Amino acid sequence: MLKKGITVSNKKGVHFIVEDGGSLLKFKPWLGDAFSFLYDFIMEKSIFPQKFGGDMNRHYEILGKELLGVHEKRVLELATGSGSAVNFLPNDNHYTGTDISPGLLRKAVKNFRTAGFKDAEFYVTSADDLPFDDDSFDLVLCILSLNFFNDIHRFLQEVKRVAVPTALLICSVPVPERNKVHSTIRGTLYSEEEFRKICEGHGLTYETIPSENGALLYFIATAQR
Ligand SMILES: C[S@@+](CC[C@H](N)C(=O)[O-])C[C@H]1O[C@@H](n2cnc3c(N)ncnc32)[C@H](O)[C@@H]1O
Repeated sequence: MLKKGITVSNKKGVHFIVEDGGSLLKFKPWLGDAFSFLYDFIMEKSIFPQKFGGDMNRHYEILGKELLGVHEKRVLELATGSGSAVNFLPNDNHYTGTDISPGLLRKAVKNFRTAGFKDAEFYVTSADDLPFDDDSFDLVLCILSLNFFNDIHRFLQEVKRVAVPTALLICSVPVPERNKVHSTIRGTLYSEEEFRKICEGHGLTYETIPSENGALLYFIATAQR
């Protein structure tokens, strides 16, 4: 599953890429990194109700409904965070989680173990430069994170490369036109129409998942090559 020539070193259940010279690939700490231990609390008590004007359980319900029939697939998540996917992804899938934050991934390791996933792996890597081989995954998830990526085009190119041609990409992301509480949401925000155009520009089909949850848009893009 790893690209030829990639070597990793496992520390407390999290894989780090070993660079030429032997050092481990690390990233500028994300804003949540220092608060890893508080991350879930902040998401539930502040980000969902105050920033998104939405509800965390509703979020899990919407995604859970989409993923209900997904079993024994090779699932890649870009920006795993502390592992919230355990709340909506069936635990018989083969899960690969990635994030630039080792602190959050260490929480994810525990959450996936507790949720009964038998096959789950975690890599410190950026969503726009993945260490995985072509055609390695059947489904890709990117939840509440697209706004933090520096280069959405590079991200989509990587998704298309590492996913099989029939794979689905399922995303959840805040969009300005749904932000009825007019909060300040960090990162680069695109509208639903812009996401449609960006996906179609990469040869992906775009479909909105009908749902209401504050500022959050849910959509599916299908990789077709
Ligand atoms: C709001 S959190 C969402 C995490 C998780 N998906 C969830 O729903 O709780 C955003 C995540 O994006 C990660 N992130 C930011 N930039 C990234 C990048 N370039 N590549 C991979 N992950 C990134 C952060 O470390 C953080 O875990």
